[in-house]
Amino acid sequence: MTITAVVGAQFGDEGKGRVVDYLAREADLVVRYQGGDNAGHTVVNDRGTFRLHLIPAGIFNPQTACLVGTGTVVNPATLLVEMDELQKAGVSLDNLWLSDRAQVVMPYHRTLDGLEEKSRGDAKIGTTGRGIGPAYSDKAARSGVRLGDLLRSDWLRERLSLILPRVNRSLEFFGEPTLNLESLISQCAEWGETLGARIVDPVPLTRGAVEGGKNILLEGQLGVMRDIDWGTYPFVTSSHPIAAYAAVGAGIPPRLVTNVIGVAKAYATAVGAGPFPAELHDETGAKLREIGHEYGATTGRPRRTGWYDAVVVRYGAWINGMTGLALTKLDVLDTFPEIKICTAYRLPDGRTIDHVPDTPVLDTIEPIYETWPGWMTPTTGARSWDQLPQAARKYLKRLEEVSGVRIQYVSVGPERDEMFAVKDS
Ligand code: GDP
Ligand code: IMO
Ligand code: MG
Repeated sequence: MTITAVVGAQFGDEGKGRVVDYLAREADLVVRYQGGDNAGHTVVNDRGTFRLHLIPAGIFNPQTACLVGTGTVVNPATLLVEMDELQKAGVSLDNLWLSDRAQVVMPYHRTLDGLEEKSRGDAKIGTTGRGIGPAYSDKAARSGVRLGDLLRSDWLRERLSLILPRVNRSLEFFGEPTLNLESLISQCAEWGETLGARIVDPVPLTRGAVEGGKNILLEGQLGVMRDIDWGTYPFVTSSHPIAAYAAVGAGIPPRLVTNVIGVAKAYATAVGAGPFPAELHDETGAKLREIGHEYGATTGRPRRTGWYDAVVVRYGAWINGMTGLALTKLDVLDTFPEIKICTAYRLPDGRTIDHVPDTPVLDTIEPIYETWPGWMTPTTGARSWDQLPQAARKYLKRLEEVSGVRIQYVSVGPERDEMFAVKDS
């Protein structure tokens, strides 16, 4: 039995979807443990190209049970669209389950996300507009609706009667029309009817898998630098992408999580506002964006691009307790004659630090780089460590050294088979 958390080692969009799709061939259960449809997890395999938002990337393996876990926030409307797209592509959803404890992203959460962002003006976070912040805020305020509530009409009415006046006060504050209890209740009842058969108590499923010695993957959303406590607060999401939360969000005892795979790009990207230390504002950055197709999977926004920031990955390796790295998008660097790695930060007073400081300090640092020669030859055909050009192997060895964690997998293209495990290198 292995229980493996797959987490983002940077600012999100590292390729978690493709890594989970690859590893799920051997998995009995995959659980998405946090976040909502702000995620865009791209999977390219023999079934087609998919942008998953909530459904675990194990869904392509019919033997793998897929659970949208308790730590997530679920928008039933967008989930139904995602389910429909998969079904149309012939992907079976027979093994898709939703935790009855997961929070519901209500239509007013999306409205409030947009209104709150607008009210922040220049200080906006750059959220995906999917209602994630307001949904997690309501969860913490004990004013949330959970998926299981959609199946219990009296309880739902009681809950919404209590919650709605609070929501309406917020809407009134922004000068928006207020909502009607009966129409919300009927919307929820409709969702309950459509999704009801999949909404389950997750504990028998997860406990059964653990006690049966099964292989379990815990799929994270976003990355360490957008963690609500450990990321660039306030330019973060409203949950915990880090591995510690995998246990909470999936409902599995923390000591049973045996492996933590951090997914990192061979360079770096970010969407949204806030410090991004190794960012490139020049032609090299534009070249990374074009070759890497760095446009948001959920919002289509151009992603900010930069060099690999080993300070960030080393920090992520520690906070997550990573046991290995999956290094993605190596092929994107194939045509760069020089490649840089950020290894430390210089503070305004001239001192250097090699850890990630709090946001206001991070905003003032200057990245310190070392430069490596590129390999200037295609890597997409490589299926083993030995098939990589020597300069690429040297680059990866250096990344391993400065990141403080072993590279366990390398991916050289978006397709499922364009990834390989690194044996003894
Ligand atoms: P996630 O949110 O962490 O799952 O990552 P995204 O799906 O948002 O972004 C990763 C993008 O890179 C997707 O478009 C993937 O298809 C693509 N991708 C993943 N691995 C590789 C790779 O090794 N090479 C190339 N060229 N593209 C990759
Ligand atoms: P995956 O799982 C990249 C970013 C937003 C914004 C911040 C908060 O595909 O890696 P939110 O909507 O969560 O309140 O936005 O987080 N963000 C992502 N960036 N990939 C994602 O998901 C993201 N989900 C949210 O751009 O900076
Ligand atoms: Mg993504």
